[in-house]
Amino acid sequence: MNDNKTEIIRILKAAGNKAVSGQEIGAKLGITRAMVWKYVRDIKKEGYDIQSSPKIGYTLLSTPDMLYPEQIKIGLETGLFGKEILYYDEVESTNSIAKDIAARYPEGTIVIAETQKKGRGRLGSEWQSTPGGIWFSLILKPSIPLEYAPRITLVAGLAVTKTLRRLGVDARIKWPNDVLINGKKVCGILTEVDAEVEKVDYLVLGIGINANVRLKDFREEVKESSTSLEAELGKPVNRIELIKDLLYELEQQYIKFKTQQFSNIVSEWISLSDTIGKEVTVTTPMKIIEGKAVGITEKGALLVKTKSNAKEEVIAGRCRYVKT
Ligand code: BTN
Repeated sequence: MNDNKTEIIRILKAAGNKAVSGQEIGAKLGITRAMVWKYVRDIKKEGYDIQSSPKIGYTLLSTPDMLYPEQIKIGLETGLFGKEILYYDEVESTNSIAKDIAARYPEGTIVIAETQKKGRGRLGSEWQSTPGGIWFSLILKPSIPLEYAPRITLVAGLAVTKTLRRLGVDARIKWPNDVLINGKKVCGILTEVDAEVEKVDYLVLGIGINANVRLKDFREEVKESSTSLEAELGKPVNRIELIKDLLYELEQQYIKFKTQQFSNIVSEWISLSDTIGKEVTVTTPMKIIEGKAVGITEKGALLVKTKSNAKEEVIAGRCRYVKT
């Protein structure tokens, strides 16, 4: 959407239920009333309900439930994250697009879509991305050694969890990156890295939130273990407000990650963890580790205390809770 259209929406939103005349809008933007009329006509085609009253002006009655960039940008309080937004109705995977463009786009760019045909999950799994969710990828370019990349996943999990808790749900983090409510998964995070020898070039943080996804739309294998914010709250969430809050929180945590000791992030992560203290089985490509999850290391690895009292560090793997 061009800047004038975004500005018109901004002006009408700020006016609330009061009408703003074409003349006033035109004067603010330095364009004619006729041009304002044409822009308003185009804006209406995108699903905005705008009442036009002759001699009085335009009133914004409702905005579409779409993750349009201009909607996200109005009132977005970040310095960097979400300043550049690539929006799609349907894609194969936002992570794939973000990886393709990462070298050319600035840090903080997001790729967002209403649906994904081939949403990707961790460890090669499929990520179901039906309408009503929030499916997006954030491009990051931190100057960190490759071995510290897993820390970013923890940073993201913490930011999502804190944001969701503000909605009034008891969100908790299951290591490494699932966000659960009452034991069911509401969000998944897929971090993909491109690195040169030892240093990270860019990192794509793919975040999928089952915001207003209908539970009956989940495929059989994940139906039992998944939930949505709408189901937990008993009403749909405002996806635009949620993504704005999340981008803000992600940026705050990212700044903290770059400027403070990682132990500060770890202690907050542990306080919101669903995993620490539980008996777990972690499957890695090399081995299966069984024991009690007791902590997180400096690298972002899970510390598991085994039956033989050894402490094993797991940097990546599938974590299952042992039923007691
Ligand atoms: C997981 O398996 O828990 C990770 C799921 C990550 C899904 C998100 S949705 C947006 C982004 N694009 C993808 O293809 N995957 C991630």
